[in-house]
Amino acid sequence: MKSWGGGRKMVLLLICQLPLLTIQDDDKCQAITVAEAKDHLRLNGGGPLGAFNKNYMAFTLDEVKRNFKNLITMQPGNFSALATWAPLSFPASLGIGECMKDSGNCEGCGVVTDRGLNFYPRYVNEVNCKSLGNGCGQNRGKCEATVMTQKFFKDHGAQGNCNKDLKLDFYDMKMCCQCILL
Ligand SMILES: *[C@@H]1O[C@H](CO)[C@@H](O)[C@H](O)[C@H]1NC(C)=O
Repeated sequence: MKSWGGGRKMVLLLICQLPLLTIQDDDKCQAITVAEAKDHLRLNGGGPLGAFNKNYMAFTLDEVKRNFKNLITMQPGNFSALATWAPLSFPASLGIGECMKDSGNCEGCGVVTDRGLNFYPRYVNEVNCKSLGNGCGQNRGKCEATVMTQKFFKDHGAQGNCNKDLKLDFYDMKMCCQCILL
């Protein structure tokens, strides 16, 4: 036969567990991690040629500094201005070295572009066409930016959002500044 005492002990145990339950309720949704974003990109064929390419894309500033070359000079990027760089609107581009002119006098500059917090990858290595739209080649042509369309991703934007489904986001990566004859 069960005693009343045994029943009371079980109730006490339950009461003791309640404080732990409330602490667990304070957990917030975590932002998507770099590792998760990279996996998503790999599984969904994102990036140049459908794969992650560290020469052209980066998820963190550390990756930018480690891997990006100035695409115009193919020299290591000059990232000295990166430490204090704080763009207010996106996308924003920062020069990372010397510029160069093609035979038609169109000038391109190596830049790192910050697309913003919700973009995966966030940083892209590009060429800014400094003389975009200018006449070139004895005025028989116009300076144009050549782009390579990339399959990238972006998240839903809201802080603390539990939905980690990344949305497909096509991005025109600027690759060169060329004199295109009209
Ligand atoms: C790197 O860039 C900074 C400005 O962003 C410039 O003052 C400095 O001369 C550059 N260094 C080299 C080696 O080009």
